[in-house]
Amino acid sequence: MDEKQEHNLAASLNLKISKPITALKQYSKVLRTTKQPVELALLKRASQITAKGFERLIKQIRAGVFEYELEGTLSKCFIEHQADGFAYPPIIASGVSGILLHYQENNQMLRSGDLVLVDIGASYSNYKADITRVFPVSGRFTSRQAQVYQIVLDTLRFLIKSIEPGMSWDKLETLCAEQISRGLVNLGLLSDSELKRSPKAYKPFMPHRVGHLIGLDVHESTEETSLRPGMALAIEPAIYIPKEGIAIRLEENMLITEQGCKVMSEGIPLEIQEIEALMSNK
Ligand code: GLY
Ligand code: MN
Ligand code: MN
Repeated sequence: MDEKQEHNLAASLNLKISKPITALKQYSKVLRTTKQPVELALLKRASQITAKGFERLIKQIRAGVFEYELEGTLSKCFIEHQADGFAYPPIIASGVSGILLHYQENNQMLRSGDLVLVDIGASYSNYKADITRVFPVSGRFTSRQAQVYQIVLDTLRFLIKSIEPGMSWDKLETLCAEQISRGLVNLGLLSDSELKRSPKAYKPFMPHRVGHLIGLDVHESTEETSLRPGMALAIEPAIYIPKEGIAIRLEENMLITEQGCKVMSEGIPLEIQEIEALMSNK
């Protein structure tokens, strides 16, 4: 509501306004851009509870299980850990559904040979985690799936290493685009000449931003164009190949520090070998 609308509302309710009304949104937006220590502790807890959810999920993933059964496991786990619930509608997308960025049906059966993309977050005291992992339903990635996965993982690691305070969002987008583009050339999905003609040629394979702030909203809004210490964000490089039924998005939650950045969503398996080992031990 803008100032004029607030005045009109007050007038319609016969309220007398002795002082000019100021919309608080402009202040809260600034306050929400960086986090206080207590807010970081709540975000960290949201992330830890989400990690617990992934731990339980890994034990349950196998062919024949339905996506909604995994959602049920997560919901139970989050409630047992005193979360408010999901931070946003959970995305549990097996097979080609993984390419749908906001898939929420969660009604398909997991099939051997497919991947399942799990984009979830617990909300704790209203602070929201936003974490994504991808698992092979059969417990082992095919060589093609592993190849794509490794490119996205290497991009994520590279971004985490590169992030520093003062870096612009544009620079971060460019770093991500370069890594993903090079990967797509190695995968035979883009040619060097296509890339030279258009640096945005990677876009059909990653049609979303590299990241966003998190906090009370899973997509916390900001007008700032650069990263500052105290900002909490989600970074989510991805490659989607619809005709191969492959969707890989890996998403971590980070805190910008004076020196660089810290991963807040640690302890959730990311390496291929680690995931395969955990899945074979259930
Ligand atoms: N889960 C929404 C997002 O990753 O931005
Ligand atoms: Mn997400
Ligand atoms: Mn996100």
